[in-house]
Amino acid sequence: MRYRVLVSDPLAEEGLDILKEFCDVDVNTGLTEDQLVATIGDYDALLVRSGTEVTARVIDAGTRLKFIGRAGAGVDNINIDAATRRGIIVANAPEGNTLAATEHTMAMMLSLARNIPQASASLKKGEWKRSKFMGVELNDKTLGIVGLGRIGNEVAKRARAMEMKCIAYDPFISKERAAKIGVELVSLDDLFRRSDVITVHTPLIKETRHMINAKSIATMKDGVRLINCARGGIIDEKALADGIRSGKVAGAAVDVFESEPPTESPLLGLDRVIVTPHLGASTVEAQKNVATSVANQCISVLEGGPAKYV
Ligand code: NAD
Ligand code: MLT
Repeated sequence: MRYRVLVSDPLAEEGLDILKEFCDVDVNTGLTEDQLVATIGDYDALLVRSGTEVTARVIDAGTRLKFIGRAGAGVDNINIDAATRRGIIVANAPEGNTLAATEHTMAMMLSLARNIPQASASLKKGEWKRSKFMGVELNDKTLGIVGLGRIGNEVAKRARAMEMKCIAYDPFISKERAAKIGVELVSLDDLFRRSDVITVHTPLIKETRHMINAKSIATMKDGVRLINCARGGIIDEKALADGIRSGKVAGAAVDVFESEPPTESPLLGLDRVIVTPHLGASTVEAQKNVATSVANQCISVLEGGPAKYV
């Protein structure tokens, strides 16, 4: 009997091709929680990106489920406790989109320093405002990296190549390891106080929710620039919007939001905030990597083997 797999967010063809060799695959995106609950009982595995909320209700209705795969890094849209209770293996693909998210962060930082999205929109409206879009150089500026994991590391290497000074806060990384890539490990307070640009690369967990808030923004340099290409909620959007309005924060670049799509975010109406719709992992290469990784892990688990990234 062939396994049945439900793919409920868009997945690259390369991953679907692997699955189809062994399984009957249904791609059905945009399902509501009720619709998922009604159908999940027919499937042995569920594969998602960040669009599907895999709630405890969905998991409990998945009476045949053996595997939930996340084509990407963050598993915050999957109720891991509920899956563990039911003995369902949850695996992700944390390495496949590291470089895509890193390059997006660098693109955001450069766009922020030189006002590229705003200047482009202005010129397309027929304006020619050269002095309005005066930028700043990144060379010799201090970049504060919160979370020196996979993406934080790759960002640091590229920022070092641009001759930025890199400092980082990460309670789980040693000073020696940071020093190897030319990064000084500092306390969070020091990082806030010393950085010209701050970029966050942590998971969204209890300890990191609203880690950047009104209180911490008050301790930062005047004219600081903030970047969030990690997870919505690490920066308090309201506090950031207030910081931008007051002029304390010179600009922000935001790829991820507390609620997505971010219809209510106070950041959307601000000229000095540049935004992208959660595009960090959206490259052809990254999507192929994460899709093949979860597809291979799915087949392995369904056949009684291990998953690489549990
Ligand atoms: P990672 O696990 O390799 O690194 C995360 C780092 O954060 C680790 O080094 C960890 O020690 C550190 N950390 C944990 N708690 C911390 C705390 N309280 N303070 C400071 N540091 C702390 O993860 P990664 O692959 O580098 O991904 C980083 C983030 O980027 C994740 O939230 C991930 O979901 C997100 N992401 C977003 C996109 C996107 O599309 N925008 C794409 C890929 C990843
Ligand atoms: C991730 O955690 O991998 C990212 O948010 C990217 C995505 O979901 O596509």
